[in-house]
Amino acid sequence: MTTTTAATSTAEDDELPGPHGAGDGGESGDVFDRDVLPAPPGATAALLRSLLAPLKARAVVTMLLLLFQQAAVQLGPLLVAYAIDTAVPAFRDHRHGPLIAVAVGYLLCALASGVLQFAFIQASARVSQDVLLDLRGRIFRHAQALSIDFHERYTSGRLISRSTTDVESLRELLDDGLQELVTVVLSFVYISAMLLWLDLSLGAVAVASFVPLYLLVRIYQRRAGRVYRARSTAIAAVIVKFVETMNGIRPVRAFRREAANDAEFAVLNRRHERTNGDALLEMARYVVGSRLVANTAVAGIVLWGAYRVASGSLELGVLAASVLYLRRLYDPIDRLGMFLNSYQSAAASLEKVAGLLAQRPSVPEPAVPCELPPLKGDFPGREVVFERVRFGYRTGGEVLPRFDLTLPAGQTVAVVGSTGAGKSTLAKLLARFYDPSGGRVLLDGVDLRELPVPELRRGVVMVTQEAFLFSGTVADNIAIGRPDASRAEIEQAAKAIGAHEFISALPDGYDTDVRKRGGRISAGQRQLVAFARALLADPAVLILDEATSSLDIPGERAVQRAMSTVLRGRTAVVIAHRLSTVEIADRVLVMEHGRIVEDGRPDELIGGTGRFADLHRAWRDSLA
Ligand SMILES: Nc1ncnc2c1ncn2[C@@H]1O[C@H](COP(=O)(O)OP(=O)(O)OP(=O)(O)O)[C@@H](O)[C@H]1O
Ligand SMILES: [Mg+2]
Repeated sequence: MTTTTAATSTAEDDELPGPHGAGDGGESGDVFDRDVLPAPPGATAALLRSLLAPLKARAVVTMLLLLFQQAAVQLGPLLVAYAIDTAVPAFRDHRHGPLIAVAVGYLLCALASGVLQFAFIQASARVSQDVLLDLRGRIFRHAQALSIDFHERYTSGRLISRSTTDVESLRELLDDGLQELVTVVLSFVYISAMLLWLDLSLGAVAVASFVPLYLLVRIYQRRAGRVYRARSTAIAAVIVKFVETMNGIRPVRAFRREAANDAEFAVLNRRHERTNGDALLEMARYVVGSRLVANTAVAGIVLWGAYRVASGSLELGVLAASVLYLRRLYDPIDRLGMFLNSYQSAAASLEKVAGLLAQRPSVPEPAVPCELPPLKGDFPGREVVFERVRFGYRTGGEVLPRFDLTLPAGQTVAVVGSTGAGKSTLAKLLARFYDPSGGRVLLDGVDLRELPVPELRRGVVMVTQEAFLFSGTVADNIAIGRPDASRAEIEQAAKAIGAHEFISALPDGYDTDVRKRGGRISAGQRQLVAFARALLADPAVLILDEATSSLDIPGERAVQRAMSTVLRGRTAVVIAHRLSTVEIADRVLVMEHGRIVEDGRPDELIGGTGRFADLHRAWRDSLA
């Protein structure tokens, strides 16, 4: 059972070192324990560019809308200055025109700003939705295309957090953050220009206050970057723990891991809370600091301006407008903080997504694909050759030291051997879940590495003990073997395998929804569905890895009958602990430590004095 480890395997996942990037990328594979996978320099920026490139025109239009909207908003204080210094005095002289013009102007500005903002929100939402659609699609397609050995190391919880929280933080940046940034920049430019234009010396005081503000922003940016990276790692750890626990809920219950899990989860949850607190603290420091600078600047301007108004060198309206403008900087300064927030968390997230997308499948598609030769006989089987194959998993020693094996087309070979001998490894190499580190695996003389992947998947099918069922109906699950199969063909495959009876007895027969993980169907029945799926796929090479182990003895007998139908004419590798399965084989291989120690016809080996004869005798005795 592979799932028993699920509940306990996360302990090392989350001890993430502060610095990211994991540049050394040693062979030990431990980079996969980190959230940020190594990516070429500039990968994050390149990803962002490639996401935005198709939307460039729309993004520019969106920004123009914002530009005009800001122009409309920032006219307000100018109108106030005009009202105080010109329109009100004119009104006193019974000239009403200027004041009416001010009122109408103010109204128009408000109206224009409202309409433009509405258009902007819609346009920018559309841009950001398109980016996210694209990004989520890319993550899914890429993760699905990555090799098995990647998925063995990078947990599904991490993938989920990549396509949820990380995508979400990019959405926040695009929806609100960019708007904030542009608003802030525009406000600063407009307001500085207005202040300087209204009165040079007052403007100079205001602009001088931007220097400490800038320094403040830089400090905040540096500190917040660290905090946000830690926070996004912490939330990923929470999700990983959650997903793994729920995936392994059965062993969690069986081994009463609940309390231990609660404790581990609480630690992760608290760590996330702490990093959140750190982020808020940084934000609070920033806001207080920037307010202090801004208020000091306002105080300076009021003092200096009041002195000048008193001495007659400045009009009151200009002072009022200057103070109004400066106060309008408060808002953008806070928003700059918000922008930096969403920028930092989006940058941390994008970095992780870019690292994921930079992963190349370790089992790549061939550059120059090769066709399989036409079938030799009128049966579907093909010849399989392992030629001086060497293989070891990344995280361990060599499993197959030097492996030679020829399986003639149409032969059924049973592989037995003690646990850890390398039987499943052999099967996985034949299905090209991995590539050998030396030597070749050939299908009718063609190296598996040169076969187009779809052709390989059609040609070699592996049925394992897990017999995974996807959500959908029973019929859908069988049809995965050949999506264009008709209902009649699906039923025929089920009948051949002996699954028709139990499927017909299900509430909706073939249309019964198997629900999550096939919880409604027993393990043995799942096996039968998996067999029917394989039969329908009609592959040249069929691998059954412990595939009958969840069947009871009568069930196994039934499947054995069915299996001889399924295997007829195919090249088949049957890995089994139960020796009854061996009886249908043409040939038996006994493996030990990645080597074949016995090879022969079943009756030959049983009659002999080797390992298999011993095993067989022991098995016979156990049945008696
Ligand atoms: N994904 C993996 N990563 C690292 N090592 C692995 C991996 N899978 C298997 N191994 C190691 O490779 C060796 C051979 O494993 P394999 O699964 O091929 O054995 P097996 O003969 O199928 O055993 P069993 O009868 O228990 O299924 C074992 O030592 C195992 O620990
Ligand atoms: Mg195995």
